[in-house]
Amino acid sequence: MLILGIESSCDETGVALVDASGSGTPRLLGHALHSQIEMHQAYGGVVPELASRDHIRRVLPLTDAVLAQAGLPLSAVDVVAHTRGPGLAGALLVGSGVACALGFALGKPVLGIHHLEGHLLSPFLSADPPEFPFIALLVSGGHTQLMRVDGVGRYELLGETIDDAAGEAFDKSAKLLGLGYPGGPALAKLAQQGDPLAYKLPRPLLHSGDLDFSFAGLKTAVLTQVKRLAHASLDGPATTHLADPLTLQQKADVAASVQAAIVEVLVKKSLAALKASGLKRLVVAGGVGANALLREQLNAACHRAGLRVHYPELHLCTDNGAMIALAAGLRVQAGLAFAVPADGAPVVPSYRFDVRPRWPLADLA
Ligand code: KG4
Ligand code: ZN
Repeated sequence: MLILGIESSCDETGVALVDASGSGTPRLLGHALHSQIEMHQAYGGVVPELASRDHIRRVLPLTDAVLAQAGLPLSAVDVVAHTRGPGLAGALLVGSGVACALGFALGKPVLGIHHLEGHLLSPFLSADPPEFPFIALLVSGGHTQLMRVDGVGRYELLGETIDDAAGEAFDKSAKLLGLGYPGGPALAKLAQQGDPLAYKLPRPLLHSGDLDFSFAGLKTAVLTQVKRLAHASLDGPATTHLADPLTLQQKADVAASVQAAIVEVLVKKSLAALKASGLKRLVVAGGVGANALLREQLNAACHRAGLRVHYPELHLCTDNGAMIALAAGLRVQAGLAFAVPADGAPVVPSYRFDVRPRWPLADLA
C-alpha cells in the first residue's frame, strides 16, 4: 500500500511517499520539500497569490524527485493524499487539484487530510515513536492547542489560544525587532546571546485554571518594551525600523525574555493537561516544536514528573509532505479513510474535491 502525500497549505510545497502495508507504522520511502521563505522574505510575510503560483511550479518536479528517491514509478502509487485544510485557500487548491488529477490518471483513490492531524501524528515517523493515548501540544504559526489523543481520528480539544498562536507571538515579536520572516528561528537564535530575565514580560493566562492560551497581550508588552528602549513615543505606531536604535545586546535580551515567556506558558499548560488527564505521555508537534528552549524545558519538566515526551524529527516539525502521507497511511490502516458501501460493492473513487481553509480538528470524523 503505497501512499503519495502532497502538502501545499501555506509556504512549503512538500511531497512524500510512504509504505503503509500491513499494520506497522507506515515507512517513509522518500520525501522532498521546497520552502518559499526566500520568495516571501521581501514582503515580510506570506503573499498568498505568490504562494499558490509557486506551488504550481514545484509540485510535479518534487513528485518526480520523491519517486526517483524511492526507485518507483508513479503507477506503483495506490492512494494519493493531499492537505485539504486548514490553510490558504488558493494554496490548498493547488495540492488538492494536482492530487485529484494524479488519482484520476492512475484510477486510484484520493484522500484529503487535515493539516493539523498531519502535525499531530508526525512523531510516529521519529526514532522514538509514541504510543496512544497521549496529550498533544500543537504549536504552529496558526494554532496553539492542547489535545487528548486516544487513537487515529480520536482527538479531544482540551484548550487552545483565544487570540494569537505561539508561532505568531514569535513571528510578531521578531518583526518588531527587525528580524524579518519567519521570525521564530531568527528570534530563537538571537535569544541565545540574551538574558531571559532582562525584561519582565507577562505570562498570559498562566494561572487561569484552564488549558487555554493567550499571546496577543505579550505582543503588546514587547512593543511597549521596544518603544521604551528606543525612546519612542508609547502612543506611536509600530514601524519596521522601531528597534533600530537598540543595541544588539538589548535586542538579544528582548528576544530571550519573549522566548522565556512563551516557553514557560507552553510548558506549564502542557504539564497541567497531563496532570488533569492522568496520561503519562506528551507529544509536541508543529513548527514551534523545533524550538530548542521549549524542548529543553519540556524534557526537564517531564523528567522530573516521570513523564515521557516525544517530538517529530527536527526537519519534520515544520510543514512537510511526509506527515500528510503518514496521516493518510494511518487512516487507511485504521479503516477510517474510505466509506465502504454497505452492499459490499467495490469503492468507486471520486475525484470531486473541495478545500477547507478553516477546519477545526474536532470536526474530523
Ligand atoms: O507548522 P509550521 O511550519 O506552519 C504552520 O502550520 O503554521 O509552523 C511555522 C511556525 C512559524 O511561526 C515559525 O516562526 C515557528 O513555527 N518556528 C519556530 C521555530 N521554528 C519554526 N518558533 C520558535 N523557534 C523555532 N526554532
Ligand atoms: Zn503547519
